[in-house]
Amino acid sequence: MRVLIACEFSGTVRRAFRALGHDAWSCDLLPAEDESAFHIQDDVLRHVRGRWNLMIAHPPCTHLSVCGARWFKDKLPEQAAALAFVRELMAAPIPRIAIENPISIISSRIRKPDQIIQPWQFGHGETKATCLWLKNLPKLVPTKIVDGREARVHRMAPGPDRWRDRSRTYPGIAAAMAAQWGE
Ligand SMILES: C[S@@+](CC[C@H](N)C(=O)[O-])C[C@H]1O[C@@H](n2cnc3c(N)ncnc32)[C@H](O)[C@@H]1O
Repeated sequence: MRVLIACEFSGTVRRAFRALGHDAWSCDLLPAEDESAFHIQDDVLRHVRGRWNLMIAHPPCTHLSVCGARWFKDKLPEQAAALAFVRELMAAPIPRIAIENPISIISSRIRKPDQIIQPWQFGHGETKATCLWLKNLPKLVPTKIVDGREARVHRMAPGPDRWRDRSRTYPGIAAAMAAQWGE
């Protein structure tokens, strides 16, 4: 299966699909953290046409997440641009699509998510509500429900790389996507 992982610098979901034999590529404006050859460093909207069977997209949530709700009135143009980007990803000519984001205004401005998952359902003892908007894909089935309900962000030291660590996809969720959506 040819799989495009949109807006991914970490390679976490790409590696999970490649481990199962899929022709998976990540794409981000940033270089791949793991320096993989299977990474396209570019605007993903220039690469959505033509050849993919599945796309999993992690668009930026900076201007969409409800955690930033108190700043919403100061960033309406940024918000409109972020929503337009999500709409373009949702409308990409790819038969199966999953868009991933935290609890965000995508729900009120575009549509409600098909599913909300948690890391603790996939082997990580942490909370981080993650919404999935799905096209022609089944809901993800939890693979390993574990104890522990800590929010990962509370353990992270402040610093320039904090956003990277916060935004990285959990490997357990990536493995479930590959196993369940790669069929
Ligand atoms: C919330 S982070 C997702 C990180 C991802 N979960 C991972 O594990 O690498 C959003 C990413 O979208 C990327 N991005 C923003 N606009 C983009 C575009 N037009 N094309 C490709 N990537 C884009 C950013 O550089 C950022 O790395």
